[in-house]
Amino acid sequence: MNRTGILYGSYDPLTQKELEYARKIRREQRLDLLILVPSEKGVLARSERMRLLKRALMPYRRIACGNAVSGAVFEEEMPAVDEEEVRSGIFRLAACGIRKMLVEEGYYLEEMLDANCKKKRAAHSRAVADLCRELAQASGVDEELAWRAGMLHDITKNRSEEWGRKILEVHDPELLDMSPKVWHASTAAVWLKQETGITDRRMLEAIRNHTLGTGKSRLDRILYIADKCERTRGYDSEKEIALAKKSLAEGAALVYAESESYRLNKGGKP
Ligand SMILES: [Fe+2]
Ligand SMILES: [Fe+2]
Repeated sequence: MNRTGILYGSYDPLTQKELEYARKIRREQRLDLLILVPSEKGVLARSERMRLLKRALMPYRRIACGNAVSGAVFEEEMPAVDEEEVRSGIFRLAACGIRKMLVEEGYYLEEMLDANCKKKRAAHSRAVADLCRELAQASGVDEELAWRAGMLHDITKNRSEEWGRKILEVHDPELLDMSPKVWHASTAAVWLKQETGITDRRMLEAIRNHTLGTGKSRLDRILYIADKCERTRGYDSEKEIALAKKSLAEGAALVYAESESYRLNKGGKP
């Protein structure tokens, strides 16, 4: 007779610790099959969580996901472990089979932004992301990639100077001579690589270059322009946006020149 067990949980998403717990339960209860049953409600739709579960459980013959069945010899609620951390961008805590999928398919970007940024900064990032997409569309750049770069470009801006200094001492020491206001561009790229596992060089470089405006790739320019010209900033940037849609190089040069003169005249922010 088959011994089947059930573990109910949110699985939003399945984390490595939860996976290890499920394996332990399967062994201890001597189950022929352990079914992970996701709850109805979650940040992600149930079908999405099921899809991620399926992928994470692929290597395990005796652990599956699905709906509850009758006749189970074991039923328990799985406490959510590390799920909130994963949703805030610490993808390395997700079940190892789905980490890459979370990155490549852009899961939890909205949650990541809200968990790491205050309301005003999150709203700015969303406006930057929207303008990035618009400029990408006009210049034949991957729109989704541009949108994601916009969403994530200020992800470490809320961190302390102390925290930033520690990162830069290891990864980008020459930046320590510049104003701490520009540090977050570099620390964001490092943090995203380490915690989420994002490896797309185009995105990481664009984020790394967004405060100084020194990047030369199309995505570098898109993010630099969008950061300065997004529409919630409260001044009219339609002239710059229109120029950028014709030529990213010219648009970026104009924005750069304007922010230079602003800095010189008013001692404004970079
Ligand atoms: Fe920034
Ligand atoms: Fe920004």
